[in-house]
Amino acid sequence: MSDPGADTVLVVDFGAQYAQLIARRVREAHVRSEIVSRDITAEEVRRRRPVGIVLSGGPASVYADDAYRIDPAILDLGVPVLGICYGHQLLADLAGGVVENTGTAEYGKTPLEVTGDSVLFSDLPRQQEVWMSHRDLVAEAPPGFEVVASSPGAPVAAMENRQRGLFGVQFHPEVAHTPRGNEILRNFLYDVCGARPTWTSHSIIESQVEKIRAQVGDARVICGLSGGVDSAVAAALVHEAVGDQLTCIFVDHGLLRADEAEQVEETFRGHFDVDLIHVKAADRFLEKLAGVTDPEQKRKIIGETFIRVFEETAREVGDARFLVQGTLYPDVIESGSGTAATIKTHHNVGGLPEDMELELVEPLRDLFKDEVRVIGEELGLPPEIVWRQPFPGPGLAVRIIGEVTRERLDVLRAADKIVVEEIRRAGLYRDIWQAFAVLPAVRTVGVQGDGRTYAYPIVVRAVTSEDAMTADWARLPYEVLEAMSSRIINEVPQVNRVAYDISSKPPATIEWE
Ligand code: XMP
Repeated sequence: MSDPGADTVLVVDFGAQYAQLIARRVREAHVRSEIVSRDITAEEVRRRRPVGIVLSGGPASVYADDAYRIDPAILDLGVPVLGICYGHQLLADLAGGVVENTGTAEYGKTPLEVTGDSVLFSDLPRQQEVWMSHRDLVAEAPPGFEVVASSPGAPVAAMENRQRGLFGVQFHPEVAHTPRGNEILRNFLYDVCGARPTWTSHSIIESQVEKIRAQVGDARVICGLSGGVDSAVAAALVHEAVGDQLTCIFVDHGLLRADEAEQVEETFRGHFDVDLIHVKAADRFLEKLAGVTDPEQKRKIIGETFIRVFEETAREVGDARFLVQGTLYPDVIESGSGTAATIKTHHNVGGLPEDMELELVEPLRDLFKDEVRVIGEELGLPPEIVWRQPFPGPGLAVRIIGEVTRERLDVLRAADKIVVEEIRRAGLYRDIWQAFAVLPAVRTVGVQGDGRTYAYPIVVRAVTSEDAMTADWARLPYEVLEAMSSRIINEVPQVNRVAYDISSKPPATIEWE
């Protein structure tokens, strides 16, 4: 995925979440970043010709027997290196300094004092607050390094060897809790690495359009639309590149949210004038799902049926040779971390049927979700699609516990619409990662007027998250919860009770199934 046009910074991964955040901050400074495994060799680094390297933080200790290392020759390539937290300690260790575990950990907001003449802190206050999270510390900087900042628990909170272009900071400049962190990173990127701010949505679109054209030539391309932002932006990019060589296929499995299908149709037909095949396949999906209650079984049925429908429709397009997928960067990072256990079988809408012999076009492979959104806006997609909260491929089927029936879908769809409307009304839609309704497989007793009711409860789920790997339940204001509850109970006759899910991920997951 190297892109000769843009200056690139390599972020060496010692802990996936740390590395991803750093990579995003670098890109926010309009410099292209690429996350690489800690096993990368100096030779490979040289081949990629980065303007700088950042060694990320991570959970390990440089002492541990199996401590993560890097090829030490990387430090001698003449490419500037910035070590952050674990990366700072590793840099100190490799360059001949002393790293110790003194038993005094620092965690949280910490005052930092800039004590030396420094490039990283140039034009920044001598006293500032930074976010620390460490047990080990650099007790002695390596020879040739100047200590430029310290904190109460870290005598070498920042060090620089300008001659060799090696820099280290014990704190985390990439997190929002370090208020001047972005400026520190920018000082490294612009003043030390001499990076040019060439990573902009305009340049990304330009280079992707060029790549897509080079890949597909004058062949036909198909794209599965899901209603979500990723497939929509991927389709819009490909449309920008090859116009009416693109046919979009939108399989409506009957498990979508209220008004979703209409919006997709309206956007792509009305706005972009894309050749769109809208397959209304709700009956087929619901027939297959009849009587099925096991979550994995549901996912498998939906995934398989989707592929069959998609394949059949794709055949109508006849001579298509390429299939567009909205794969994002976090899915393809060559991470240094171990493999995660399969928690749920994820079904990607537009998933590739193995025997279709279509070549993949993946124009979002280099991008994080926030970048995808910005590009979507620049390409003219409406905000309802660009800012839409993520929605699982199997749709409402994994939010209906137990059997999926038309009646239960209608109840859930009506309640879900209210949840989303109230979140929007409160101005929270973009701050909340996902907010939705869940329909459990129980009924509850209530009283309405003078009569007893025996009806469905609805569970409201709203979470905040950076990347869906972890999530916290959203502290919604009581008034918002109250509005949801009374509207759902008043407007959806089959519901007599509303509960709010206050579990985080882990140990829960975002979806209920
Ligand atoms: P969980 O429930 O595992 O969900 O915490 C994490 C994120 O993934 C979404 N999700 C899916 N997305 N196909 C998808 O495209 C799926 O099968 C699927 N299952 C869950 C979920 O909505 C959340 O954003």
